[in-house]
Amino acid sequence: MADSSSSLGQRQEPKFDSSVPQTARIWNYWLGGKDNFPADRQVGDQILEAFPEIVENARASRAFLARAVRYLAGEAGIRQFLDIGTGLPTADNTHQVAQAVAPECRIVYVDNDPIVLAHARALLVGAPQGATAYIDADLRDPEKVLQEAARTLDFTQPIAIMLMGILGHIADDGEAQSIVQRLVGAVRSGSYLTMNDGTDISEEVVEAARIWNESANPTYHLRSPDRIARFFDGLELVEPGVVSPPRWRPEPSPSGLPAEIASSCGVGRKP
Ligand SMILES: C[S@@+](CC[C@H](N)C(=O)[O-])C[C@H]1O[C@@H](n2cnc3c(N)ncnc32)[C@H](O)[C@@H]1O
Repeated sequence: MADSSSSLGQRQEPKFDSSVPQTARIWNYWLGGKDNFPADRQVGDQILEAFPEIVENARASRAFLARAVRYLAGEAGIRQFLDIGTGLPTADNTHQVAQAVAPECRIVYVDNDPIVLAHARALLVGAPQGATAYIDADLRDPEKVLQEAARTLDFTQPIAIMLMGILGHIADDGEAQSIVQRLVGAVRSGSYLTMNDGTDISEEVVEAARIWNESANPTYHLRSPDRIARFFDGLELVEPGVVSPPRWRPEPSPSGLPAEIASSCGVGRKP
C-alpha cells in the first residue's frame, strides 16, 4: 500500500520563495532536472564555474545512493528505509531502487523544503506490497521524525537510516553527531546508517562552498573525510568502509564516472 503521512495529508499548499536559491532545487539543476528557478540556476552556475566537477559529484552521489540501497535491500535483507533529506524526485529514488529488489519495502521520506513537499506525491507511488510515506520535518528535530516515521515503519525490525547530502547543512559538529546518535539509538540491532557528504579536499570545492554560503539556503559546511568517518563510530562498517562514493562497491558505468569526488560515504551496521 502507498500511504501518506499526516503532514502530507493535512497540508496547506506549500509556500516557497523562488527568489532565494534552495539546496534541493540547485541539486536538481545539477542533476539535469527541471524543478528549479532562475535564482537556483544562477548560484548553480557560479559554483559550476569555480568547481566544474560539481555535476559529476552530484551524479556520483546519486549513483552511490542506488548502489547502497540495492546492497541494503539485497545482500543485507533490509525492508525499511528512513531517507532524511530526500531532495526532489529524480531517477532511482530510494523506494524505486529498494522495491525493485523487494516490493514489500517500506520507505519514509523526510525533508523540510516546501518545494520537496509540493513534489512529494511523486514519491508516494510505490509497489502495492510495500508502503511509502512523506514527512515534512526538520532533521534538527529527530524526535518528531522518529515519532511520525513510526506510523509507517516497525521499529522492532531493522531500518536503514539514510542521510545523503544533508549533514553538511548542520554546521555544528556536536549537533550533527548528537542527531546521528539519537537516530541510530532509536533503531534496533541489525539496522544501518548510510551517509554521504561533501569533503573539503580541494581549494576548488572550498571555494564552491563559500559561494554557496553567500547566497543559498540552507548553508552547507564541508567536513574532512576523517570527520565524516566519525559519524560511523560504534557501527560495523560494510566493506570498503568510508570512501569517496565512486569507490564504494563500484559497478561498471557506461557514463564513466570519476574515481574520486569531493565526498565521503559509507554504510555502517548497528551491532
Ligand atoms: C543536497 S540535497 C540531497 C538530496 C538527496 N538526499 C540526494 O542525495 O540526492 C539535500 C536535501 O536535504 C534537505 N535538507 C537540508 N537541511 C534539512 C533539514 N535540516 N531537515 C530536513 N531536510 C533538510 C534539503 O531540502 C534537500 O532536499
